[in-house]
Amino acid sequence: MEYSVKSGTPEKQRTACLVLGVYEPRRLSTAAEHFDAACDGHLSSILRRGDMEGKLGQSLLLVHTPNALCDRVLLIGCGRERDLDDRRFRRIVADATHALDNTGATEAVSYLTDLNVKGRDSAWKIRQTVEAIQEAQYRFDELKSKTQQPRRPLRKIILSVPSRRELANGERAVQEGLAIDGGIKLAKDLANLPANICTPTYLADQARQLAAEFPVLQFQALTESELQNLGMGALLAVSKGSAQPPRLIVLEYKNAAKQHKPIVLVGKGVTFDTGGISLKPADKMDEMKYDMCGAASVLGALRACAELQLPLNVVGIIPAVENMPSAQATRPGDIVTSLSGQTVEILNTDAEGRLILCDALTYSERYDPAIVIDIATLTGACIIALGRHPHGLFSNHPPLANDLLNAGRAAADRAWELPLWEEYQESLESNFADMANVGGREGGAITAACFLARFTRKVHWAHLDIAGTAWRTGKNKGATGRPVPLLTQYLLDRVAAEYH
Ligand code: BES
Ligand code: MN
Ligand code: ZN
Repeated sequence: MEYSVKSGTPEKQRTACLVLGVYEPRRLSTAAEHFDAACDGHLSSILRRGDMEGKLGQSLLLVHTPNALCDRVLLIGCGRERDLDDRRFRRIVADATHALDNTGATEAVSYLTDLNVKGRDSAWKIRQTVEAIQEAQYRFDELKSKTQQPRRPLRKIILSVPSRRELANGERAVQEGLAIDGGIKLAKDLANLPANICTPTYLADQARQLAAEFPVLQFQALTESELQNLGMGALLAVSKGSAQPPRLIVLEYKNAAKQHKPIVLVGKGVTFDTGGISLKPADKMDEMKYDMCGAASVLGALRACAELQLPLNVVGIIPAVENMPSAQATRPGDIVTSLSGQTVEILNTDAEGRLILCDALTYSERYDPAIVIDIATLTGACIIALGRHPHGLFSNHPPLANDLLNAGRAAADRAWELPLWEEYQESLESNFADMANVGGREGGAITAACFLARFTRKVHWAHLDIAGTAWRTGKNKGATGRPVPLLTQYLLDRVAAEYH
């Protein structure tokens, strides 16, 4: 899809379709009022006759509008103006996209970016519009033998900005939206692939390809014997039961001075999580192909960062393994030595994410990072605690937690903080090793984070548990690409803070 921005009034647009908002109850948006005046009150008479209430989800396509230069007018219900928030705005844009897909128009000019969204400026609305349209049009049909394309697909969208002065900001917002969407799409595509295709080796190959596409990225992948030599006993214990060899993927993005300490992003890359010997029940086990969504979001954020050429140093570290039961697999009760030297009694082989992450987090120390953020589909308990709307956020550094919460709000990809208190550490005590890898059912998302905290004492660190947010379950099953928007926003905010 092609996007551009334009300032000017709706009645002057020669376009295949004009998109205008209508509020509930039967109230024209400002842009719709302008158009209405030019077409002799055609729109207000439609509202008066009761054909368009303005409710969220409603749409009405008009043709042969009197005096109009455009071929069609698409009215989109926006709900009550004072209720128009981030989420409703995205919904309105998605509704408009679906409605446009059902018209013959291949091009449109949208004035939805002129709607009043509480506390949001034009650039925000433009970026979110791009992201929401891309989201509405995403399909994963690579693996279907026959695919159906829309008859006359929408190819070009022109977004309104309120004045000429806003054009440059608007264009920048389009670029950001497209870069973030590129990251989201990469993350979704990798995540939606089944585990017989998306193996640790495949993930490494994809990271290598990303580095080939963006030469500022340097690629490296450590093999099993290299991981053995380093002493990553915790990571290797997880991959032992699998026929697929593990990889530690490292992507270095260097686009700032050397003394600029890097931000390290660590993504859980379990390409399939059967639970290992602590085998999971069969129901919905297919969804454990999504257990590499943390890894996918790291690749997505790096892609967006490279596309926007952000003046930062960022390192992506992805421990990639498959968790399988077999004669070689780790047993409950086995004790391993992590890269940090701390020993771990593996009481449950299904708590594997923390085992690969702890070694990757220790490995991140060698980059002398300013900040370390790990992203992981870590616990079912996080879904129980928070549901599927926010990411779970934990941090040993309150300013970092705040920055991430703010980035999530700005990007409409929100996180919610959970406590990382010392009290919870007790549950990880082991009679035989420095710690156990599980802490019982209560507060499971928190005790998992506490486990990771034992490996990040030297750095400012945050952990995002994306178990509830990385994919949708049920009829619309599919990856969401989250938290690529939050992560990219955080990087954009770092740039703004450091260079202004
Ligand atoms: N990948 C899972 C977490 C998960 C489960 C995410 C379901 C999304 C949906 C993780 O490796 C896991 O199995 N965690 C266990 C931990 C437990 C054994 C302490 C869990 O959450 O049950
Ligand atoms: Mn597991
Ligand atoms: Zn897992």
